Amino acid sequence: MQRGRFITLEGGEGSGKSTQGRLLADHLRGKGHEVVLTREPGGTPGAEAIRALAVTGEPDRWMPWSDALLMTAARVDHVERVIRPALGRGATVVCDRFIDSTRAYQGAGRGLPDAALCRLHDDAVGLWPDLTLVLLLDEADGLRRAAARGSAEARFEAIGAAFHARVQGFFVALPAAEPARCRSIDASGSIAAVSARIIAALA
Ligand code: TMP
Repeated sequence: MQRGRFITLEGGEGSGKSTQGRLLADHLRGKGHEVVLTREPGGTPGAEAIRALAVTGEPDRWMPWSDALLMTAARVDHVERVIRPALGRGATVVCDRFIDSTRAYQGAGRGLPDAALCRLHDDAVGLWPDLTLVLLLDEADGLRRAAARGSAEARFEAIGAAFHARVQGFFVALPAAEPARCRSIDASGSIAAVSARIIAALA
C-alpha cells in the first residue's frame, strides 16, 4: 500500500532539475520527512547500467521504440526495488525525470504515440507520481547550459534543435493537460528564486 508522496521533476536539458531536486530534498528533510532522492534513467545498479547504454553514444544508436523500452526496463527495476518500497514505508520520493520524460523525448521528440507509451507504462510500471513539477526554461538557454557542463551523457542533447523544440512543447503543454498532477515552474532566474517557487507549489 502506497503511503508516502511521490514527486517528480521534469523539464528539458539544463533546466536545473538536479540542483532543484537536492534543494527540495533538503527542504523536506528539514521538515522531518524521510526523503529518497533519485533519478532516471537510473536509481538502481541495473537501471544505471541501462542508463549508460541509453544516454551515451551517437543519437541514432537506438531506434525510438528501443529507447522507450530501455527507459521502461530501467524504470521497472527502479520502481520495484527503490520507489515502491520507499513509498510503502512512508518516505517521500523525489525523482529527477520519470514517465513524462519518455512521453516528451521518445513521444513528442521522436514520434511515438503518447497513448501507447502511457499504456506501456500502465502495464509495465503501474505507478504515476502524486505531483510532477515541470521546470520551464527557454530550451535554447537550457541546451547552452547543458553543453557548458560538457558531460559524456549527451546523446539526446546532440539531437537537433527541432527535436528539443518538440520536447519543450510537450513539457509546456503538460501542466494544462494534466492539472491534477502537474504544475509548471518558471525555471528562469536564480537557483534560490526557482527553489522558492517549487516550495510554494508543494502547498
Ligand atoms: P538527465 O541529463 O536529465 O539526467 O537525463 C538523461 C537524458 O535522458 C536526457 O537527455 C533525457 C533522456 N531521457 C529520455 O530520453 N527518456 C526518458 O524516459 C528519460 C528518463 C530520460
